[in-house]
Formats: sequence, structure tokens, C-alpha cells
Amino acid sequence: MTANDPGVNALEPYWMPFTANRAFKQRPRMISAAQGMHYITPDGRQIIDATSGLYCVNAGHGQPAVVAAITEAAGRLDYSPSFQFAHPQAFELAGRLAALAPGDLDHVFFASSGSEAIDTAMKLALSYHRARGEGQRTRFIGRERGYHGVGFGGISVGGIPANRKMYGAALGGIDHLATTYDRARQAFSTGEPEWGGELAEELNRILALHDPSNIAAVVIEPVAGSTGCIPPPKGYLERIREITAAHGILLILDEVITAFGRLGHTFAADRYGIVPDLMTFAKGVSNGAVPLSGVLVRKGIYDAHMVGPEHLPELFHGYTYSAHPLAVAAALATLDLHRDLGLNGRAADLETPFAELMMSLRDEPGVLDIRPVGLMCGIDLAPKGGAFGKRGYEAMERAYHDHDLYVRIAGDTMVIAPPLVATGADLAEIRDKLAVTIRASA
Ligand SMILES: Cc1ncc(COP(=O)(O)O)c(C=O)c1O
Repeated sequence: MTANDPGVNALEPYWMPFTANRAFKQRPRMISAAQGMHYITPDGRQIIDATSGLYCVNAGHGQPAVVAAITEAAGRLDYSPSFQFAHPQAFELAGRLAALAPGDLDHVFFASSGSEAIDTAMKLALSYHRARGEGQRTRFIGRERGYHGVGFGGISVGGIPANRKMYGAALGGIDHLATTYDRARQAFSTGEPEWGGELAEELNRILALHDPSNIAAVVIEPVAGSTGCIPPPKGYLERIREITAAHGILLILDEVITAFGRLGHTFAADRYGIVPDLMTFAKGVSNGAVPLSGVLVRKGIYDAHMVGPEHLPELFHGYTYSAHPLAVAAALATLDLHRDLGLNGRAADLETPFAELMMSLRDEPGVLDIRPVGLMCGIDLAPKGGAFGKRGYEAMERAYHDHDLYVRIAGDTMVIAPPLVATGADLAEIRDKLAVTIRASA
């Protein structure tokens, strides 16, 4: 192909991720700028961002302090080797994150994406057990409908069939807890559903099957996000923490979406009063402006690795872009913003009005369930003509083209997770635009 070939769609070379490429290239949804609560299209339309991009722009788009921090870092230190060398801001950020994290989650391993963070956490679980002489602990337990990114570790503990089926056996030695979602018992619950806490006991059944001494870790999202926002039933996460702790099994809490205010706290762990052993974060940490992710690690896990000859790395793992200077600068500025704008408190204050606005969509055509928690909500739409995902796709298209609304879909579920800087008027606008979109796609 050459650029001048007649008839070649200029959009063709870019193989878009998690995208219906052929449909997109026939009728593209382009975004060329962003500011505050809005995306701006090439033809100048302002589109309200109902999902903070992909749950990452929690402080709103184009925050001047974040832009300035990235610009300054780019001019001062474009890149610093992450192996055997470091730059001072990386330590500053690690210290600030450790101070924010609950319990003795005192150490941070940096990466760039959520997928890398999960694979890192899984590797740390294995190396920790091995360092302690329990190298037989190699099995992991994930959950149906869980999403932990697209690395082989993440898809293996993840429970989204379409993300797994083309990729062979992936990692062996993995079991899955059942999803906690049962529409018949929980539909239209606000926040954590009353029903379903007892499903945590299923973990004991899986442990008995393999013997707990063979299990390395349980990997779980506090709120299952990408599958369509499934809040944990009351008591569920607390019980999972109790069972894992009782058997020396690590709990990896995947907070890639939930960290940094989405649930009205810095971490979901704070909302549920639990301290995991390893906690992943990404997205909101740098407001989505430069990719940054990481794993917060309990002190004992770090300490267990600090053995062997002092001139050799204690852990043979890391990324070229771990603690990249631009990403770290973006994150430091983002943490300042969270503090100065009181974003956790803002999200907490908005939780009830947001839930009420979302629930007011209940009588729109074909709405099967609405699940608000924090500043996040899944809305299930009845599929159209028996074709999974068709209605959801149409809703997303119409939202962009006809109603100036950006909303993320998962199959026939719309996931709403607005920036935490949204005003009451922004949330009301999102609600009204969702209403016309749902009607238009019915
Ligand atoms: C809970 C969770 N874990 C991991 C990931 C993967 O993150 P990334 O796309 O940055 O690899 C995501 C992405 O949405 C996520 O929601």
C-alpha cells in the first residue's frame, strides 16, 4: 500500500484496539481536543465526557497544572533509565503514594499500564512465596466477569470470555470465583447490594479442592468495572480478605479504575475497610495524561525480597518506562489537584444525587438494570433483535453523532463514570442525554 493508492481508506493502517474497526472506519468518531468535562470534535462540537475517557481523567481534561508539569518535565528530563538509575521525583511519588495507601502498603513498583501492573502483582506474589520457601504456591484465583487487562496474567485471572477464547491455554493453574451479579436478586440496587455477600464462601470450596497451601493469590476488582460496573455485595470483600488472610494467601486488589476518588475515597480499600497485600493502580493516578501504573506492596513482601548479594537486583522484573519522568510529573501534579480540589470529598458528596439521576432512567425503554456506586454506574439495556452488543453499539454511536455525549459501552451495558469535577448541572445534562440515547437506540 502507498499513501497515494486511490481508494485506500486513510483510516485503514491503524488497527484500533478493542474497536469494531470496519464499522468505525465507515463512520468514524473522532476526537481532536478536550477541555474540562468535554471532548471537542474536528468539526467543533463539544461532547460531554460521561466516562472520564476510559475511567482515567478523574480531575477533568486539560488541567493546567498537569499540562505545566508535563511540559516542564519534558524540557528538563525527557527520559531517565529506570534500571540501576533513577530520578528524584520517582522517590517523591512513591513516598506520597505509600503515605496515601492504607496499612503497611509502603512500597511501590511502577509500570505504565494496568495490564503491566497486574502481571507485576502476580509475579510478585509468586516470587514472595518462593522467597519464603513456599514455592509450591503457584495457583491463582480470579473471578468471572473480572477484567485485569490484556497480558497473559490478566486474561488468565480475568473472566471475560471474549478476551480469553482466542488465546489458547494462557496461564494454567487458575480458578475463578462466580460473579456476584444476579439480576433477579439485585436489580436496581443503589450502591453495594444486600444480596450476594455469602458468595465469598465459594472461595473456601476452591481452596479445599486444591489445598490452600498451593494458592498464591486471589485477584479481584473491588467493583468489577469494565464488564459493566458490578459493585460488591455488602460484606463480600471483607470476607474474601478474612479467608485469604487465614490461609496465607495474598489478596491482590485491582484498583486500576477504583483508585483516586471514583468511590469517594483515595482507594476502594478505604471504602471497604480492608488492607490488601498488593494493590494495583493506573489511569487516575496521572489523570490519564501520560501512562503510569504501579503496584503498592506491603512492607513484608518487599522485605522478603531484600536478600541475596547486594550488587545484584533482588527482583528480575521491570519496564523501560517504569517511573517515566513525564508520567511521574503528571502524577505528582494530579495528586496535588486531588488534595487541593478535595476530589474524594466531591465524589462522596455527589454519590447520592448521581445515583438518583441514574435511577431516574429506570422507566426508559428496555432498561433492565441500573447499578450506581460512587461516581460510577452500569446501565443494562435489553439487547436488540437477539444480537449481543448491537443495541449498545447503536447507543454509543447515536450518543456521539446525535446527542453530543461520550459514553463507554460493554456489550449492551452503558458505563457512566464522569470526571469527579462534574457539577450538578453536568450530571443532569449527562442524565438527559443518556435518556434520549436510550430511547433512540430502543
Ligand atoms: C481493573 C482493571 N485492571 C486492569 C486494566 C488494564 O489497564 P490497561 O488498559 O492500562 O492495561 C483495566 C483497564 O480498564 C482495568 O479496568
